[in-house]
Order: sequence, then structure tokens, then C-alpha cells
Amino acid sequence: MLQKIESLRAEIASLTAADAAELETLRIKYLSKKGLVSALFDEFRQLPADSKRELGRPVNELKAFALDKINSLRAELEADAAADNVCDLTRTAAPMPCGTRHPLSLVREQIIAIFRRLGFNIAEGPEIEDDWHVFESLNFAADHPARDMQDTFFINRAPDVLLRTHTSSVQTRVMENNRPPIRIICPGRVFRNEAVSARAHCFFHQVEALYVDRNVTFGDLLQTLRYFAQEMFGPQTRIRLRPSYFPFTEPSAEMDISCDLCGGKGCSFCKGTGWVEILGCGMVDPNVLDACGIDSKEYSGFALGMGVERIANLKYRVSDLRLFSENDLRFLDEFIGAR
Ligand code: DAH
Repeated sequence: MLQKIESLRAEIASLTAADAAELETLRIKYLSKKGLVSALFDEFRQLPADSKRELGRPVNELKAFALDKINSLRAELEADAAADNVCDLTRTAAPMPCGTRHPLSLVREQIIAIFRRLGFNIAEGPEIEDDWHVFESLNFAADHPARDMQDTFFINRAPDVLLRTHTSSVQTRVMENNRPPIRIICPGRVFRNEAVSARAHCFFHQVEALYVDRNVTFGDLLQTLRYFAQEMFGPQTRIRLRPSYFPFTEPSAEMDISCDLCGGKGCSFCKGTGWVEILGCGMVDPNVLDACGIDSKEYSGFALGMGVERIANLKYRVSDLRLFSENDLRFLDEFIGAR
């Protein structure tokens, strides 16, 4: 009997199973009620008492050994299956969260690309500015309401340090340090002390354009505006200029484009007028050129400035300004693949 136990043990030790079915066959062969180990127990029961004392332990150990072996073969098979899953190239890929361009970046890049085709270069300036660059050099009168605490975030008074309220400040920075011809486009963030709502925010984005050279005329401005509008909103887009006032331009105008929702017929988006306002513009006031050391008798120029959120609203119909800065993925995901 001891010999039988030994040879069965050696047999079990060398068992292998290629899959779960093979393993089950082995389990039945050795451990089921009619299996070889059970048969050994039947035999054991027939033995006289003193042999039982001698063989009880080896026979029980054999059973435990067989159980261990079957269990470890099962564990090996399961580990193999898990490893196979990792390499299963036919499995559907797990979704990978993927970032997207922010709509304001998309629009800013489009605006820049259009002006680049006309030969404009990018210029940048600081967000924290002084009174000279934001107001004084741009012909704002000392008591102009835009200088007021209610509009402007001041960091320090006398000397004034403030957050720029518009990107027109970059005009001054460029004209102070460069001689014409100047053809620049200035994208950037601006700040105004406004209560945050769907239609106003305490920070937003602008793009400013400036062209200064000999003989720059209002006709050049008009043609640039028309080109920009049609590149941005499509060739069917019409523009119109309304007289306006800005301290740093003379004459000044605001530009409307034909409403592309109703094709100019009038709808709720354009409040029945068929037109929507998109930017301010004008011929650079001679005082501004002179303040920056450019002879206004020799040179002239045009400037224009627009809100990036405004253009994005027209392109993508985002009617609540707050969405642009809340970083809600449900909103941002809408722009996956947008152009
Ligand atoms: N700076 C103006 C604003 O923030 C926008 C603007 C209007 C810029 C007319 C210009 C311009 O360059 O010519 O509202």
C-alpha cells in the first residue's frame, strides 16, 4: 500500500492541464468519489487496525497533496487566461479621455490666420499695465469714465498700476519701439470691473489690429474689414459701418455683419435688424501717433479691435459668456473636431 501511495504521489506531481476541461478530467480521475485517491481510501478501510495506524497519515497526506495540485493547476490556468486578455488585440479599446481645443483658442487662431495672410505679425503686451499705455497715450481725457474705479481694476494708485481694459495698450507699446511700416495683430486677455453674468464678465479676450504707414486710408481699412468678415463668416457676408466714437481713432466706426442666421432678413438673434455688431475701428487719431513719437504729418494708420467671445458666440452660438471659463467638460466636448 505504501508503494501505491508513493507511485500515485509521483504521478500526481507530474500532472499538467492545458485547459479547464483537461483539469476537470484530472480532478474526476483522482479526487471524485470513484477516483483513484478515493479507491485508496476504500482499500485503507479494509486494513487491520495496526496497519491503519501506520498508513493513516500517508494516505491523508496524499489526498491533501492531490487537492493542492489540482488547485495550483487551476490557478495557473486562470493566470494564463488573464495574461491572454491583456494581449487580446481584438478587444474593443477602452475609451481614452481626449482633450480638445478651447473654442476661444479656435477662434483666436482663425482671426490670427486671416490677418497673417494680409501680412500682419503678432505682438503681445503685459496684462498688468500703467495708465500711460492703457489710457493717456490713447487720447483718453483725464476725466474719461473708462478710467474710473468702476470699470478698471487698479492694483496701485499714484503711480497707477492697473489691469489693462483693452488690448489697444499694445498699439502704444509697439509704436513706441518701432518705426512704420507697422502691421500688427495683438491677441490677449483684458479685464473690466463688471458683475459676472451671461452677457458680461470681469475678464475676456480681444484681438487688436494696427496698420501704420505712409498713405494708409479709410479705404484700406474698409477692404481689410470686408476681407476679414468674409474669411471668418463666409463669402456671402456683407458688412456695414456705423459712425461711432473712440478716443484713439478719428473718424471712428463700429462694424456690423449681415446676420448669418436669417441671411439679413431679421430674426430674434439680430433683434429683427438683419445685422449684428462685431467690432470697433477707425483711423488712428494723430494725437496717438504723435504721443508715440510717430510723425502724424508723414504717417497715418487704421486700428480695429474685437472681442473673441463675441466672435465665438456668432460662430458657435454660445450665448452664456460664463461657459467659456467654467471648464465644464460637457461644454468643451462639444468642440471636439470643431474648426
Ligand atoms: N479698445 C476698444 C474696446 O475695448 C475696441 C477698439 C475700438 C479698438 C476701435 C480699436 C478701435 O483699435 O479702433 O472697446
